[in-house]
Amino acid sequence: MFSVARSHHASAEEVHRDLLEQARALLHGERDFTANAANLAALIFHALPDLNWAGFYWMKGGELVLGPFQGKPACVRIALGRGVCGTAARERRTIVVPDVDKFPGHIACDSASRSEIVVPIVRQGEVIGVLDLDSPMTDRFDGEHARVLEGVVSDFLAATDL
Ligand code: SME
Repeated sequence: MFSVARSHHASAEEVHRDLLEQARALLHGERDFTANAANLAALIFHALPDLNWAGFYWMKGGELVLGPFQGKPACVRIALGRGVCGTAARERRTIVVPDVDKFPGHIACDSASRSEIVVPIVRQGEVIGVLDLDSPMTDRFDGEHARVLEGVVSDFLAATDL
């Protein structure tokens, strides 16, 4: 249904544009929370090169709890303020970590992870979760990834019944 395999010649810009287009296509006409989150995790994981993990954590009872993802099994619960995920949730801002070994308190779910980006998911002023991507390469993510993934999160929020 969706072609996520890219030619090796696709520029990062093309890959990102395709990702946003395919995210909108996946979300179109479907408002189920789990279905939309699961499909977005799969889309991101396969559309962006050099990822070893992509998925969601949801705020439940004051902590982050593992949601739909692609990659190896991961830590289930993360306290607010802990790790990259808990920090992004507490500070309500996207965090790009070029080298996880240099981020104090980084939680190593998969020892292959070398860099990470976490986007908070904020609805009506309340953090309801985070979108987390890990890469086995250092310095994999930049401000452009932040912009694209924030766009995906915004489309998810608009398209989904929570
Ligand atoms: N590394 C994250 C934990 C989640 S896993 O990467 C999937 C963190 O430090 O919050």
